[in-house]
Amino acid sequence: MIPILNLTRQYELLKTQINDALIRVAASGHYILGPEVKAFEAEMAQYLGVKHVIGCANGTDALFLALKALRIGDGDEVITTPFSYMATSESIARAGAKPVFIDIEPDTMNFDVSLLEAALTPNTKAILPVHIFGQAANMDEVKRFAQAHKLAIIEDCAQAIGSEFKGQKVGTIGEIGCFSFFPSKNLGCLGDGGMCTTNDDDLAERLRMLRVHGSRQRYYHEESGLNSRLDEIQAAVLRVKLKHIDEWNHARQAVASRYDELLKPLAEWVKTPYRHSDGQHVFHQYTLQLQGPDAAKLRADVQQKLQAAGIQSMIYYPVPLYRQQTHADLNLNPQDYPLCEDLSDRVFSLPMFPEMTAEEQQQVADALAQVLKTVPVPV
Ligand SMILES: Cc1ncc(COP(=O)(O)O)c(C=O)c1O
Repeated sequence: MIPILNLTRQYELLKTQINDALIRVAASGHYILGPEVKAFEAEMAQYLGVKHVIGCANGTDALFLALKALRIGDGDEVITTPFSYMATSESIARAGAKPVFIDIEPDTMNFDVSLLEAALTPNTKAILPVHIFGQAANMDEVKRFAQAHKLAIIEDCAQAIGSEFKGQKVGTIGEIGCFSFFPSKNLGCLGDGGMCTTNDDDLAERLRMLRVHGSRQRYYHEESGLNSRLDEIQAAVLRVKLKHIDEWNHARQAVASRYDELLKPLAEWVKTPYRHSDGQHVFHQYTLQLQGPDAAKLRADVQQKLQAAGIQSMIYYPVPLYRQQTHADLNLNPQDYPLCEDLSDRVFSLPMFPEMTAEEQQQVADALAQVLKTVPVPV
């Protein structure tokens, strides 16, 4: 069986350092917001080239904390993508604001910045780009539009740590960057973890205050916040792993290039991931688009046959955010998002992790070729 990802290989490679880190924290008697978190925040700030890093409990909280820090809430609107994980728009709604979705681009599958203008209202307060699958959204245009209309930018970088747009790391371009250290992410901890990043001193202070119940001074609470802290254990593990993130992202890029080559003979059936020339795609996912009018039906069949051949695949994301029941109150019309509708029917992701071997990739490509060659070439 070739799984969509294999986390134990990475642990095996760093076993001694990770185990030492776990024992160090256990023996220290300091488990929450202590020296490991402080050191991790400093090391991460240096890696990203950003002034402040604020660890928190997970990527979902990072988004919520960012919105709260920017005082976005009731009556406000935030423009974002409908092609993302639920946490993106859920956080906007949780803050009391309204997610306003714009359709996506067919190639990068990031939101289409040419649609920002049409989504703008007097209530718009922020833009929330998601760097989907590890490739940056068009941040030049996001920045230009935000400046012109005095909007804040919150970057959802959960899938894109280390990715760049025109030489600048994602998470350092907007007002606040939000990251997840969920185990499957390019930089994952041994449980839940997340962080916010910012170059703004006041926002950094607000984020630090909001993550501990809205308190700057113990037992004095100026506004309601969260209990959302990064554990010492997770910070200690992340310090070990951070040293390897560039090497792992390069390995992911090599895996992606090898897939591109192997899948060339299948070009009539599947479109391989597009890379725009302005950035660094860090391949959190390697996502294919099935071609042809019957892609949705074909996809279920392909997945099943791949599974039978021992290859796991996943669909990110089968249900766009405007179709989620939790957003039913927004009364959105799927026909307003034709590209997202279309792509959510065609995408599927292949196994992708830095330690994947060339032999394993060959097996994936062979299995996919076998499956696809049993179906007619799409017209
Ligand atoms: C795009 C995106 N945003 C936000 C999140 C939320 O992160 P977490 O699972 O750490 O809460 C995730 C990952 O799960 C994600 O993929």
